[in-house]
Amino acid sequence: MVTTRICEQLGCANPVFGFSMELEVAIAVSRSGGVGIWGCTRRTPEEIESGVSHMKAELGDLPWGVDLVIPAGMPESDDRAAIEATLPAEHVAFVDAMRERHGVPDDGLPGMRSRFVRSEETARDQLAVVMDHQMPVLALGVGSPTWAVEQAHERGSLIVSLVGRPAHAESAIRAGADILVAQGTDSGGHTGPIGTFTLVPLVVEVAGGRPVLAAGGVATGRHIAASLALGADGVWIGTAFLASREAAPEPVLLEKLLAAGVTDTVISRSVSGKTFRMLRSAWSDEWAADGAPEPLKMPHQDILIGDLLGQVLRHQVAPLVHEGAGQGVAHLVAQESVATIMDRLVAEAERVLGSLGG
Ligand SMILES: Cc1cc2nc3c(=O)[nH]c(=O)nc-3n(C[C@H](O)[C@H](O)[C@H](O)COP(=O)(O)O)c2cc1C
Repeated sequence: MVTTRICEQLGCANPVFGFSMELEVAIAVSRSGGVGIWGCTRRTPEEIESGVSHMKAELGDLPWGVDLVIPAGMPESDDRAAIEATLPAEHVAFVDAMRERHGVPDDGLPGMRSRFVRSEETARDQLAVVMDHQMPVLALGVGSPTWAVEQAHERGSLIVSLVGRPAHAESAIRAGADILVAQGTDSGGHTGPIGTFTLVPLVVEVAGGRPVLAAGGVATGRHIAASLALGADGVWIGTAFLASREAAPEPVLLEKLLAAGVTDTVISRSVSGKTFRMLRSAWSDEWAADGAPEPLKMPHQDILIGDLLGQVLRHQVAPLVHEGAGQGVAHLVAQESVATIMDRLVAEAERVLGSLGG
């Protein structure tokens, strides 16, 4: 068995944390001996309430958690009209032209990014719901506001903060983080410029003895063994579960995920306004082309593109379909269950550690 002190701390059989925006993936990770983390930053308070209740009912005493993104500098209220009023005409025209070029039907409905504005108000409302439940783990990606950390601690949750630089680790510790995820540039989703191999030991150095999880490019048991060698107490994985049966991606996305090689991801601000690693597609190419406007800042970019992106996904406009994905996407070659992926990761890590005499 691969066990570290984090297993004792959380009551998990192996030190593998699995992040997913799909509830069933997170549940399956916890059932497979790891810690499933449900990313619910784009969910309404009602959806969070029902998802968390479902997770608790399914998992009983097994450890689990939720992840929210609470960046600094967001507007106070969920006021879409106020953001729309600030969108530059050049940007709106660019998005309209993209819709036209790719024949994306306008069904008048918003997408996940535009159905509410990421704001202080939504963060408070989302957090109020998760605080009503006794969560083993509250993970905070992008920002660790002290008020959120204090509330979670009062309710007995461990705070896991995702950091991309040693300085972020120091500020997360000042805010009260219990566990740090050192997330390197290889990772899918919002990411910084420092590689996982460089970042993990630097975060371990500033962690002051707190557990550190390695993230970004962890896709095989070898990566788990290497993460432990770098001083991490476990790993935090997202991309390896993207094509799983439980994630159930639509056929167009599944095909893109399974076909993607190591150079098929790009970092772009075109989705959220912050640097985000994702599958390269006509979407990222359009935004990187000569003459394309610079993406707006979060949350303005969400509102600028959110309806179009929702419609791209609803109507499966294949060239524009993409997803956040890390460089480890190169390891995805078949659709498998989460349990199969977890078993392979852990068995390979055991074998490698054993062969190294660990
Ligand atoms: C599609 C996708 C969406 C993500 N969204 C979030 C998020 O909402 N909150 C967060 O803390 N991390 C998010 N991440 C980052 C993951 O938590 C994790 O750090 C990352 O996937 C690890 O690297 P890997 O993708 O190489 O496994 C996302 C990752 C992916 C692939």
